[in-house]
Amino acid sequence: MLSLFPFRYEYSRSGNPTRNSLEKCLASLDGAKHCMAFSSGLGATTALTHLLSAGDHMISHDDVYGGTNRYFRKVASRFGIEISFVDCTQPEKVKAAIKSNTKMVRKDFCTIFLYVRVVNILFVS
Ligand SMILES: Cc1ncc(COP(=O)(O)O)c(C=O)c1O
Repeated sequence: MLSLFPFRYEYSRSGNPTRNSLEKCLASLDGAKHCMAFSSGLGATTALTHLLSAGDHMISHDDVYGGTNRYFRKVASRFGIEISFVDCTQPEKVKAAIKSNTKMVRKDFCTIFLYVRVVNILFVS
């Protein structure tokens, strides 16, 4: 069958060899099968949040980037996504915040790079 788009990369925004190489490289560093790279942090955050539906609950680290914080509080919440901000460095607090409709636990990096608050990803996962 003749395809309208015979080439693998027909539009650079939907896919291009450079981004594809970056994604493969990052996935291999993490021992993962797949990776998705975005051109902005909030672009990635928005795309991930769109995996959720109205009525779903998300746990977010309480020390997220300001733009992420505002996006969750002022935009995502208007679409019926319930968000709890929790200190994810404390696994027992994450556990206590989990509800029957919790679909995502999001552990962002801290906003101030002069100190590091470590999240035990394996425990929280
Ligand atoms: C942790 C974190 N998330 C998201 C962003 C936003 O990224 P962007 O400006 O690329 O949307 C930043 C920006 O500094 C960040 O530090």
